[in-house]
Amino acid sequence: MSQKTIRILGIESSCDETAAAIVEDGRRIVSDFISTQIDIHKQYGGVFPEVASRQHVLAVYPVIDEVMNKAHMSYSDIDAIAVTRGPGLAGSLVVGMNAAKGLSLATGLPLIGINHLEGHIYSSWVYSDRDETIPPEPEFPAIVLLVSGGHSEVILLKDHLQYERLGGTLDDAAGEAFDKTARLLGLEYPGGPSIQKAGANGDPDAYRFNVAKMPGTYDFSFSGVKTSVLRTVQKIQKDGELLRVADLAASFQKSVVSILFEKAIHAAREYNAKNIVIAGGVSANKCLRDTFLEQKEFKVFIPKLSYCTDNGAMIGAAGYRRFLTGKFDGLDMDVLPNWPLSRI
Ligand SMILES: Nc1ncnc2c1ncn2[C@@H]1O[C@H](COP(=O)(O)OP(=O)(O)OP(=O)(O)O)[C@@H](O)[C@H]1O
Ligand SMILES: [Mg+2]
Repeated sequence: MSQKTIRILGIESSCDETAAAIVEDGRRIVSDFISTQIDIHKQYGGVFPEVASRQHVLAVYPVIDEVMNKAHMSYSDIDAIAVTRGPGLAGSLVVGMNAAKGLSLATGLPLIGINHLEGHIYSSWVYSDRDETIPPEPEFPAIVLLVSGGHSEVILLKDHLQYERLGGTLDDAAGEAFDKTARLLGLEYPGGPSIQKAGANGDPDAYRFNVAKMPGTYDFSFSGVKTSVLRTVQKIQKDGELLRVADLAASFQKSVVSILFEKAIHAAREYNAKNIVIAGGVSANKCLRDTFLEQKEFKVFIPKLSYCTDNGAMIGAAGYRRFLTGKFDGLDMDVLPNWPLSRI
């Protein structure tokens, strides 16, 4: 007898993307939609929290309706509603959370609060019918390199939903380092894609930027690299030389990617990992993707570009794993803006 298909409606609103998706059995994306606010926040050089939450209010129900309509489904086809509970901006999280609660109340569907970082990890499990074949899924134990706008962590994934944090950033997150460095190079927000574009024709060996190695740990520190770029820019300006943004961007990118690569490979060796799973917005970076995919020691899983940054499918995929545990949340669930993965 074939098992019943489980469909989860995933809702994400932790930062500046309002997103939803319907995911089957934790992997197949039936429909998804992402409404991004990037163009609105560009003028501020970063996410303006109050503007973000008001945009989520405008977008959340249209986005959910869109995925339901695209899937030609009604709520009787759905088994549970998963929603990002944290970490993220409180005012943004609350909008997705309240929408999910309203739907749960109206439909009687169970509610599941999801850790956004757990969601990012599960981006490597999803696929859509546009894929030619069903891609394989990561095997355990796996080393997760989670590199996003607010987080940079090295995690041992022992099994589904079982995490051991091995280390992480002591200051800026990798994405934050890209965003801040882009700003000081005069490039627009978000900094990751801008640096990648600006550095595409630059010489990655033109400058050497100091990256703290933190030997013997899986910790990172990115504030030094950022300062190192700043000092270099100041010196170039003082000397009246031309600011070679392409070379600066390429050299910065290489420094950050090298340390991420080194730590992840080291962890994978130490813990006999079967795979490396890369997650979070910085996993969209071409230099990082190429660096990991060029090595042949470990099989590496990196989400498709559209699932590297925030999306609803990753919340639906993580929601499925939580659904299988049979633990649900009540309508009294509150958002957790500082919820670490280690305390799920
Ligand atoms: N091509 C790229 N190269 C490098 N960084 C990138 C690229 N694309 C996006 N990023 C970075 O990814 C970050 C956004 O990722 P994501 O949406 O996962 O972060 P977030 O949701 O804001 O933070 P968190 O997930 O930690 O709460 C930004 O810092 C952005 O600069
Ligand atoms: Mg994110």
